[in-house]
Amino acid sequence: MMKKDAKIYVAGHRGMVGSAIVRALKNAGYNNIITRTHAELDLTRQDKVEEFFAAEKPEYVFLAAAKVGGIVANRDALADFMYDNMMLEMNVIHAAWKNGCCKLLFLGSSCIYPRLAPQPMPESCLLTSSLEPTNEAYALAKISGLKYCEYLNRQYGTDYISVMPTNLYGPNDNYHPEHSHVLPALIDRFHNAKISGAPYVTCWGDGSPLREFLYVDDLADLCLFLMNNYSGNETVNAGTGKEITIKALTELVAEIIGYDGEIRWDTTRPNGTPRKLLDVSKATALGWKYKTELRDGIRLAYQDYLENPHRAIR
Ligand SMILES: NC(=O)c1ccc[n+]([C@@H]2O[C@H](COP(=O)([O-])OP(=O)(O)OC[C@H]3O[C@@H](n4cnc5c(N)ncnc54)[C@H](OP(=O)(O)O)[C@@H]3O)[C@@H](O)[C@H]2O)c1
Repeated sequence: MMKKDAKIYVAGHRGMVGSAIVRALKNAGYNNIITRTHAELDLTRQDKVEEFFAAEKPEYVFLAAAKVGGIVANRDALADFMYDNMMLEMNVIHAAWKNGCCKLLFLGSSCIYPRLAPQPMPESCLLTSSLEPTNEAYALAKISGLKYCEYLNRQYGTDYISVMPTNLYGPNDNYHPEHSHVLPALIDRFHNAKISGAPYVTCWGDGSPLREFLYVDDLADLCLFLMNNYSGNETVNAGTGKEITIKALTELVAEIIGYDGEIRWDTTRPNGTPRKLLDVSKATALGWKYKTELRDGIRLAYQDYLENPHRAIR
């Protein structure tokens, strides 16, 4: 168990996940949290990362920093996604180990699993077949990070763990028109359509694909839970185990935002993978369950979007 005054470094604390982890730590009474902004410490710089760890020697690390983006950003910058993520992960995990960090939690993503993985996807399907080509670079970097944690555990007896979340949403999300994920993109589009009085909004595909969404504060709760209660080389999936069609999700977002125009579907556009659901039985067996239902979570996310417009696009 982490002591309340343990020195804890949250990497990526200004991001959606990192900021949720800091909130969860503070709410739980942890009082010795250290952070650095990207401008203060570029985690792709090995010398700077080593200096930082040698000076601060954090006992626990939550690695929530990453170069993150939606399908367009990933597809258009494969090399950058691989380089930045590989470098920052290797630098942080290696420096943590060299400087005696007793436990580290590495954040990955469900895109590490094969394109044609069984549904729902269990942790054990990792590396059983090919990845989705559009985010292969990102996925390979994330797989390397979680494998490096596993190899340190096996070679040096560390206690470094990893968690693979499904699609996340919530406060401090990224609403950039090209860099955002599906749920924040829908919030932004329907909000703008409502403000401009647009008579209809056109969405891609036919709305049939099934997706899963986890509220980011629930993920942060799981990260703390795992840090205090889990050790092991195999990653842990983070999700709700529930799925919704893109069509139903779109209607829900429109309803919460109060957009009453028409929703049109452009079926000449691709649908994407028909189904993407995590098998969450491992986290459930460990004694953890999500708390925030999708409708409540979208309301909270939209409230944050309205209250913090300056943060919405980055
Ligand atoms: N969002 C999702 O739906 C989702 C789903 C599954 C998994 N995850 C995982 O959760 C983790 C965090 O994602 P997120 O959604 O919180 O992303 P985010 O909001 O973009 O936050 C990432 C943070 O990392 C920082 N960062 C990036 N490159 C850096 C560098 N070279 N040096 C220092 N800091 C750097 C960013 O700072 P700047 O903004 O200043 O660059 C930002 O504060 C990632 O590993 C991601 O794979 C996210």
